Formats: sequence, structure tokens, C-alpha cells
Amino acid sequence: MRVIAVMNQKGGVGKTTTAANLSHGLALEGRRVLAIDLDPQGHLAASFGVHGAEQGLDAVLRGEADLDVVRIKVREGVDLVPPGPRLNEVDGLTEGGVARGWLLHNTLAQLDDEDFVIVDCPPSSGLLGMNALLGAEELLIPVSGDYLALVGLSKLMALLKRLEAKTGRETRKWILITRFQERRRHAQEVREKIRAYFPGQVLGTPVREAVALTESPSFGKTIFEYRPNSRSADEYRALAVDLMNGWAC
Ligand SMILES: Nc1ncnc2c1ncn2[C@@H]1O[C@H](COP(=O)(O)OP(=O)(O)OP(=O)(O)O)[C@@H](O)[C@H]1O
Ligand SMILES: [Mg+2]
Repeated sequence: MRVIAVMNQKGGVGKTTTAANLSHGLALEGRRVLAIDLDPQGHLAASFGVHGAEQGLDAVLRGEADLDVVRIKVREGVDLVPPGPRLNEVDGLTEGGVARGWLLHNTLAQLDDEDFVIVDCPPSSGLLGMNALLGAEELLIPVSGDYLALVGLSKLMALLKRLEAKTGRETRKWILITRFQERRRHAQEVREKIRAYFPGQVLGTPVREAVALTESPSFGKTIFEYRPNSRSADEYRALAVDLMNGWAC
């Protein structure tokens, strides 16, 4: 089982879009996927058409429900764990000491039927982010192809290094360029820089800016349902295959 957290403190870079479409893409390649919505906003759940679930990950992390009770089958091969209405309370937990950071890790240790667990992180580095970091062996970091994103990425990588030195746990990191605008020279330059700074960690297929990716969640559909023949569907399909094979450049 591979646990991959889709993480970046920067908001709106395509974490949820990637978590949803990658989860479905992996399932379409025959893998069994558990998609976890670690963001109290619940956008991953909404992307699969799930709204207002009464309980979810909040209850599991608080020890009030089993994962098996709150998981919902959303597609062939994909189960979803919605955040539940009280996940932001977990983010603010003050009791529990160091163990608070390991709640997700301990929950995932009970699983054995999944090939992939994809965790959609919130755009913050609080306790929920810490749970993702301690629960995942791999981090998928979407970055948009502009200069400030590059600055943010360098800071994030440095922060992760420090945290990992503290916790003694290392993660494999995958960088995914999202919202890529290939016609802009600036975007090309930033892509080259990211590849030069982080060799061997950048996934080969960037996800281009595309209206279909913005529209599909409003229908509760993934790109494979909304526009199966689009370039975006091809990109997320290629991304799923690259991740399955462990390919980066
Ligand atoms: N490749 C893309 N092309 C066009 N629009 C995109 C693309 N990727 C994401 N978007 C849109 O950008 C917005 C932000 O994307 P998304 O919600 O996936 O980002 P996020 O990193 O999860 O945001 P947050 O930090 O708020 O959780 C959404 O409206 C989404 O539909
Ligand atoms: Mg999101």
C-alpha cells in the first residue's frame, strides 16, 4: 500500500483537483484507491459529488468511529473518506501531546486492501498537515508554474527537510507542475528551473490550465467522466501511470 499526501501550503495550486483525478485515474488503471479528504472545506468529497456527510475522518481521528463505517464507495475502485463536519476541531486539538500528530498514521495502519491511499491536504501546516506528513510515505506537491510558486516551493522543501530531521521520517517527494500555460515563456522558464533545482523529483507530465478541470467538480464528476477525451484526462492518466511506475525526471 502506498500512502501519498497531496500537499502544499499555498492555496489554489491544484491539490484537490489532483487528488480527485489521480484517485480516479489510478482506479481506472485497476488499482484500489482510498481517497481521504483531510481538508475541512470538503472539496475532495464535493469533487466526487459527496456533500454534507454526517461523519467522516473527524470521527475516526477522534476515536469515535471506524474507518470502515465512514468510507463511501464513490467510483468503481475508489472509496472516499469525507472530512465530516468537525474536522477543523481536530486541527485545533490541544490535548494529546505528540500522539496528536500520529492519528492518521495509526488509522491507516489498520488498512490492508488498498493499493493507494491519496490524502488531500488543507492549505495550511497545522496539526492536520502534520498528520499527513507522519501518515504518508510519499508527498505529491503540486506547484503552479509561476515565479512566486517557485519561491514557495523552495521554502516548503526546506521546511519539510527540517521537519523530517526532527521526526526521523523521510518521504519520497514528487513535484507536479499544475495550471501550466505552455505558451508563456515565463512558465517554460519556471519549469526548467524547478527541474534544475529538484532533479529526479519532477513528474514528466505537467497539467495544463484547462477550463474543463475547473468545471468538472461542479457536476461532481472527475475529468474522466466530464471530458474523457480531453488533454486534461490524458495528462492525469499519464500522471497515474508515472506514479505507479515511479517515474520522474
Ligand atoms: N489545471 C487546471 N486548469 C484550470 N483550473 C484548475 C486547474 N487545476 C485546478 N484548477 C482550478 O483552480 C482552483 C483551485 O484548485 P484546487 O481546489 O484543486 O486547488 P487546491 O490547492 O486544492 O486549493 P486549496 O488550497 O484551497 O485546497 C479550482 O477552481 C480548480 O478547479
Ligand atoms: Mg484543496
